[in-house]
Amino acid sequence: MELSAREYTVLAAAAGFCSVAGVGYLIQREYRRWRVLSAHMAQYYADFSLSPSQLMDLRNDFIEEARKGLRGEKSTCLMAPTMVDILPDGDEVGEYFALDIGGTNFRVIHVTLSMDKGEVVHVEMEDNAIPEEYFTCHGDMLFDLLASALVDFAKRHGRHSDDRPLPIGFCFSFPCTHTAIGEAVMVKLTKKFENEGMVGQDPAKGLQRALDRQKGNFKVAALINDSVGTLAGGCYVDADTKIGVILGTGTNACYAEQRSNIAALAKGRKNGREQQHPLMAINTEWGNFAAPSSPFTDIDRELDEETPNAGSHRFEKMVSGMYLGELARRAILRLAEQAQLFGPEVPPQLREPWALTSAALSKIDEDGSWLLSTTARELSETLGLPAALCTHTTCLRVKQVCHLVARRSAAVVAACLAGLLQQIDRDGAHTPMAPTTIAVDGGLFEHYQAYRAYLREYLDQMLGKQVSSLVKIVQIRDASSMGAAYLAAAIDEETQ
Ligand code: BGC
Repeated sequence: MELSAREYTVLAAAAGFCSVAGVGYLIQREYRRWRVLSAHMAQYYADFSLSPSQLMDLRNDFIEEARKGLRGEKSTCLMAPTMVDILPDGDEVGEYFALDIGGTNFRVIHVTLSMDKGEVVHVEMEDNAIPEEYFTCHGDMLFDLLASALVDFAKRHGRHSDDRPLPIGFCFSFPCTHTAIGEAVMVKLTKKFENEGMVGQDPAKGLQRALDRQKGNFKVAALINDSVGTLAGGCYVDADTKIGVILGTGTNACYAEQRSNIAALAKGRKNGREQQHPLMAINTEWGNFAAPSSPFTDIDRELDEETPNAGSHRFEKMVSGMYLGELARRAILRLAEQAQLFGPEVPPQLREPWALTSAALSKIDEDGSWLLSTTARELSETLGLPAALCTHTTCLRVKQVCHLVARRSAAVVAACLAGLLQQIDRDGAHTPMAPTTIAVDGGLFEHYQAYRAYLREYLDQMLGKQVSSLVKIVQIRDASSMGAAYLAAAIDEETQ
């Protein structure tokens, strides 16, 4: 069929119109998508970035909860007296064992402490991943796992005693209320643990029975929380250490409080140690802290409902390594569902709970490459997203989400630290500020450099540069397990 010149002109004009209209439609669609995405991001910025006044409110609420806990009133912070009223000072001598459990691994450790102050002659330690079934098995089975690992470790390293049982420090990272340093009742399970037969029982006895079953000649001398171990580990190397903090799978803090402020002790019988040891380590269990000023978002609420300990440890669920990646995944999934972050289809991999780890989140947040290639790699390697979906614009949004989630964690931790510093009169408000060290242990803090910088920045903001310059935040590697061994030593020396 032949077309006339006129028909050609009309057809060409129509085709031109259609392609202009098509391009116009695409531009309009992308613009609409960009607007929806920007509106969602603006909401995340509003929800996750906390203003100085919000952080002050949080700090004040934390102090109030902490004081209620100390007075023995209903509080979201357990503020458990740990019965630890002596802290190591580096003068401890001898050979000690420790067992440490609480996250995804457990550790067996043997230390030899020298006569020279603060010097550890020799350390042997072994980390073991906790097999999946041990997160849900009966408590006795979990204790058997620990006891047999210790007995086997001691044999392999030729350490045994035929007469006096070897004292061990047991670092057990869950909320407990103590009746003595080696005697406690477990309050609840946290993190991934769902074991029966543990809550309401004494973990020290549980481990001792398991050790006896294994014919191990050990005695559980001290049962301590990992935050207490970190405080002890810090004190061993730095006498200015006043607070021990865990920023790992979970989070917690411990500090030394005046006995006279601890109602639970005032009610109990006096044991004659009050004069000599006026302070006692308090396990705050701040992981459970919640108050009107807690900046919980819908995403926090959603995540909480799907954890085995729903309704509990909500501060921990905003802060710690177990949850940061999952919070970010949920925020990214919302962007995919409601603002087509990855295009019209939501990638199914994004719907997989816990698929984005906090290790991946930290790499994405710290991605300084021009084209965000690390972010693209993490998205395709960790989440399994097709590379074609990981465009620069998408990676940029993902990075912003990870950044916001991490910064909020550091901000709320800084607020509670400012609260604890005020409680121990180390915030420069009433007395001249003295050098103060905060000892920190845990993978989140250890492996995530940008996070450490955020924490410092928020603490400076809360305390003011001058006071804050006297507060050192120091990472003490293996502090909780080493601290358990030092405490076993300190207690052993006292009771000999
Ligand atoms: C536990 C604390 C522990 C913290 C860090 C929290 O879930 O309640 O006792 O210190 O995790 O391991």
